[in-house]
Amino acid sequence: MANFLVFLAAVVAAFLVSSSSADPTAAKVVCYYDSRSYVRETQAKMLPSDLDPALTFCSHLVYGYAGIAADSHKLVSLNENLDLDKGHANYRIITQLKRKFPALKVLLSVGGDADTTEKEKYMTLVESPEARTSFINSAVVILKNYGFDGLDLAWEWPKNKPKKIRGALGSFWHGFKKVFSGDSVVDEKAEEHKAGFAKLVQETKNALRPDNFLLTASVLPNVNSSLFFDTHAIMNSLDFVILDGFDYQTPERNPKEADYTAPLYDLLERNSQHNVNSLVQWWLKNGLPGHKIVLGMPTYARTWKMTSDSEISGVPPLTVDGPAPEGPYTKEAGLLSYAEVCTKLSNPNNQKGIHTHLRKVTDPSKRYGTYAFRVPDDNEEGGMWVSYEDPDTAGNKAGYIRAKALGGIAIHDLSLDDFRGLCSGDKFPLLRAAKYRL
Ligand SMILES: *[C@@H]1O[C@H](CO)[C@@H](O)[C@H](O)[C@H]1NC(C)=O
Repeated sequence: MANFLVFLAAVVAAFLVSSSSADPTAAKVVCYYDSRSYVRETQAKMLPSDLDPALTFCSHLVYGYAGIAADSHKLVSLNENLDLDKGHANYRIITQLKRKFPALKVLLSVGGDADTTEKEKYMTLVESPEARTSFINSAVVILKNYGFDGLDLAWEWPKNKPKKIRGALGSFWHGFKKVFSGDSVVDEKAEEHKAGFAKLVQETKNALRPDNFLLTASVLPNVNSSLFFDTHAIMNSLDFVILDGFDYQTPERNPKEADYTAPLYDLLERNSQHNVNSLVQWWLKNGLPGHKIVLGMPTYARTWKMTSDSEISGVPPLTVDGPAPEGPYTKEAGLLSYAEVCTKLSNPNNQKGIHTHLRKVTDPSKRYGTYAFRVPDDNEEGGMWVSYEDPDTAGNKAGYIRAKALGGIAIHDLSLDDFRGLCSGDKFPLLRAAKYRL
């Protein structure tokens, strides 16, 4: 018996060493913590102390988001009272989590669609050598002062214009507009910006190298990789690239048409580029080694309002009328956290009237994702269509990453996973499911 316990202890110790050491070939679990969750209320308010149960699963923690000062092009906090030592000192609290989790790498992310004012600054910065230097010098100071391990460039490039999936008349008219007004041009100076960004990446890496800081880039949702990323020029300077293969369809961009927000593979009738596999294949084809690709996965749901005009079957794409009302905790129209979705699903433990529940439709093909919906009542109330990830689809995405030998998964973000364990008792069920299948 005693021998057996010694043996068991040795096995456990070996397992802990292998799973927590910074093995560069091990699949990465890159966990984003969006500090905007700090200002949410009640159940949705996430504090750095709520991160602990997640961090045994994360290889990297990315704190989002810093921004850029439009005049000086310096890297700046977007919420000084929250981030800096003169306020809540979140930057320092976050990097000090490494004391408890020594293998954890903590990065600061800039942009991430959180920096919402004067977005042209992301263009003017890459155009000018002086602006790049100003950004890089300020970034190095912040990384050093606060003990970060690296920087994530989640650059705010202009996004693709949303297009209707259905409607012959609509696409005909769209074709007209394209010819006559050139509205499909995302950025007239895209070539210059692509070259400037490559310089920024190389120059930043040179500045970070003496301290061994990591440098990553994020491709934000609905950004056309081929317009802004010169893969061959940047890949040797980046430790990895995070591909945000989600938000292909959102209630903000596509208020009249609901669809899967983050399908793994292409669907009939859709833009063949609006799926994870197409994005990943583009980067592989353009030379990025698979082990440098980290696939982003959302933890939140996108929600639309179903009306009497909506296809009653719920099969997407379907006609809808804008974002569904806000959730009880996250309080943002068109968005629900995973915890808010799971408490709305029909299940035997759910005591409320059956008509208020969402009906879940799973995807046995494992190619597109899960959705849930509720048709409106006679007064047009309560109709809702929800595209979301659950532990099964998170596991499928991890399975895809494993099958393609990619570098790992990124979780967007921890605050919208079920961090209190309201769904099943386990905290961070999406993160856990992804990690388990990686
Ligand atoms: C991205 O840009 C390329 C041209 O560089 C174009 O062929 C492609 O269709 C664009 N993709 C999307 C999704 O707009």
